[in-house]
Amino acid sequence: MTEGETPLIDLEKVTKRFTHRGETLTVLEDLDFRIFRGDRIAIMGPSGAGKSTLLQVMGTLDAPTEGRMTFDGEEIFRRSSRGLAKFRNDQIGFVFQFHHLLPEFTALENVMMPGLIGRMSRGAAEQRAEELLADVGLAGRVHHQPGELSGGEQQRVAVARALFKKPRLLLADEPTGNLDLRTGAGIHATLRELNEKTGVTVVVVTHDPRLAETMPIRVLVDEGKLIPQQPGDERVRGRVPEELMDATPQEPGQMRLVEAVASNEETSVELED
Ligand SMILES: Nc1ncnc2c1ncn2[C@@H]1O[C@H](COP(=O)(O)OP(=O)(O)OP(=O)(O)O)[C@@H](O)[C@H]1O
Ligand SMILES: [Mg+2]
Repeated sequence: MTEGETPLIDLEKVTKRFTHRGETLTVLEDLDFRIFRGDRIAIMGPSGAGKSTLLQVMGTLDAPTEGRMTFDGEEIFRRSSRGLAKFRNDQIGFVFQFHHLLPEFTALENVMMPGLIGRMSRGAAEQRAEELLADVGLAGRVHHQPGELSGGEQQRVAVARALFKKPRLLLADEPTGNLDLRTGAGIHATLRELNEKTGVTVVVVTHDPRLAETMPIRVLVDEGKLIPQQPGDERVRGRVPEELMDATPQEPGQMRLVEAVASNEETSVELED
């Protein structure tokens, strides 16, 4: 993040409600969150807190009930549903908890699928898929079907597939949820390498604090709010937990927010009771 940079994603006062059998449930309330190019972010929070909902909004799969979201400065939900679908297809890669690979196709075919659905030639699609599989450490498994791969390997195929169209944003919803810690750590290491190599912005939901620790930026979704997990995270304009207030800020930018919180001058920052 550099001074004055346009965020890749800017959520402004985003509220998401669901109405279910006449009852309204506020899942996300008044969130302000900015994500910059090249960020690698972990989203944590208890089950039902709204992590997947937040990812769906960021991925333009679901519009906020109130508030605004811009993607690279564009108010993205103003697009038609067709325009949004094209946007998603071009700019966003999704990885889900259960990878949704096609079981009867090989790893290579699964990864090249987005190219075949588009109008890419088979040769070019194959070449790109091979490169991506090598990037995620699966050069030796290209012709295996999902049933012939371990859980972690299947997830890495899903990551490679999500990156096929060179998205600017990779959204992963508990990609390690059904894996052991070591395999999960391998997925996080892969995400880190891809983030560092290609600059793709990465947002990952995880339940595991040890995996979250491997991400430079961590936020918690709880009771509809976003709570930054590092002092002075200027991406999140929300309340900062008290225990973080005592932590020594590491960078000058962090100092500013901590000071603002301490003196309660910045109106966008609420102090906890
Ligand atoms: N389409 C919907 N209609 C009504 N309620 C919904 C809908 N989608 C989600 N919810 C509710 O919103 C809340 C947040 O759901 P969400 O899936 O975002 O949670 P989560 O933080 O991802 O949880 P988990 O860690 O269990 O995946 C839940 O209480 C859920 O029941
Ligand atoms: Mg979820």
